[in-house]
Amino acid sequence: MSQLKLFDDLELDIGSNIGNTKELLKSLKKVGKIENLNNSESVIGNITYSIFIELLSHKITAVRLEAVKHLGKFNNEEVGKSILNHYSKEQDSLVRRECISSLGRQRNSQRIPFFIKELGDRDPKIVLQSIRSLLIFKDRPEVMNALKEMTNHPNEMIKEVLEIELSPRLKRTKINHIQVNEKLKNTVVNGDVLKVLPIIEEESFHLTFTSPPYYNARDYSSYSSYKEYLDFLREVFKETHRLTKYGRFLIVNTSPIIIPRVSRKHSSRRYPIPFDIHHFLMQDGWDFIDDIIWQKPEFSVKNRVGGFMQHRKPLGYKPNCTTEYIMVYRKKCKDLIDWNIKQYDPEIIEASKVTEDFETTNVWNIDPTFDKTHSAIFPESLCKKVIQYYSYKRDLVFDPFGGSGTFAKVAKEMERNFFLIELNPTYFERIIEKVGPKANYQTLNQFRQL
Ligand SMILES: C[S@@+](CC[C@H](N)C(=O)[O-])C[C@H]1O[C@@H](n2cnc3c(N)ncnc32)[C@H](O)[C@@H]1O
Repeated sequence: MSQLKLFDDLELDIGSNIGNTKELLKSLKKVGKIENLNNSESVIGNITYSIFIELLSHKITAVRLEAVKHLGKFNNEEVGKSILNHYSKEQDSLVRRECISSLGRQRNSQRIPFFIKELGDRDPKIVLQSIRSLLIFKDRPEVMNALKEMTNHPNEMIKEVLEIELSPRLKRTKINHIQVNEKLKNTVVNGDVLKVLPIIEEESFHLTFTSPPYYNARDYSSYSSYKEYLDFLREVFKETHRLTKYGRFLIVNTSPIIIPRVSRKHSSRRYPIPFDIHHFLMQDGWDFIDDIIWQKPEFSVKNRVGGFMQHRKPLGYKPNCTTEYIMVYRKKCKDLIDWNIKQYDPEIIEASKVTEDFETTNVWNIDPTFDKTHSAIFPESLCKKVIQYYSYKRDLVFDPFGGSGTFAKVAKEMERNFFLIELNPTYFERIIEKVGPKANYQTLNQFRQL
């Protein structure tokens, strides 16, 4: 039986003994921490690549995976050939991908035909990794032609990578990313969102956080059908997309709602609002980022479980609904979040850092809040979290369905500028009361004339 000598103090049998495998994997991960493995030497310290070549035939997939990863750090022909040879036999898709990655790291132009061939693999992970390896040789016509032929690939991630890599660098935006339009600063408009939004210049908002009307479940809204309601929201979010700055966030708070039954002969109806909204946002230029759950205490929600509590009969189960969704989307763009952050002055970045405790999971426990005028308002702590995590100081944050103005109140306290729209005059008055005199309150006509 061969011996694996990774460190002076550690010698392991390279057997298929599962008990040993844990130790073996631990040692293999330890090797990963050694720096400067990336050279063409066959021996580094007391580690030789032949150990890893031997481990390619190990029974346990995780071991083979680690072995291939390490082999990628040795840049020589024998290693390359061993990986290629192993690749042709390997069944596990992650190890196969790692083989392509390790071969790619060798930057050997003789492998170009191999990578081009692998563009035809069924597994998108292999194709993506082969594309990555080929991009190093992007200036060669045969590589460019092969990549161009892939632009109609059915896989969405492959398409996106090629679009970013092959299209001429698009101008991101002509608009200064941190600039805030003076006309919109700390303004609340009393009007219909679909009449106000078209008047506003593109790329005005850094963040949108909103809780749209809950179809016909509340006193303040009535739509003739669920379709009309969804079409309305789709229009609002399409406009919001136009008005959102490059790569910035839209955060939507909704939950499924119940419209009560007409009589005992009929059933009540549940509408899956977050899922229907999600569906069209994905088509309208937003990337899905996160689903955060707003968890409320059970005593604060309507009791639905009472019937089942009595009869205990399967099929008649109806849980108490204690959650709402906080769905996080980002305006589709070609840059990583780092680009957005880099647009800010270092002082703003420093001043905006989240220094206090923050939510570490996507379940946020927050008690609901009640208002004397409005029946469905944001808790201030929810607004605070969203503003802290998704905007910088002096940004312009937006709520198209302002309600009682909670978002504006918190935005102001957190040194952000706000822009709100609210249709209902009674709620508009409540906003004035809540946010105070240091804001611009306008009718639709006044806003039009600005
Ligand atoms: C769920 S509430 C928002 C409550 C708000 N988040 C708060 O903290 O007070 C939705 C609001 O959208 C408003 N609304 C409904 N249709 C509208 C429209 N077409 N234009 C502007 N506001 C509208 C309603 O009047 C309601 O106040």
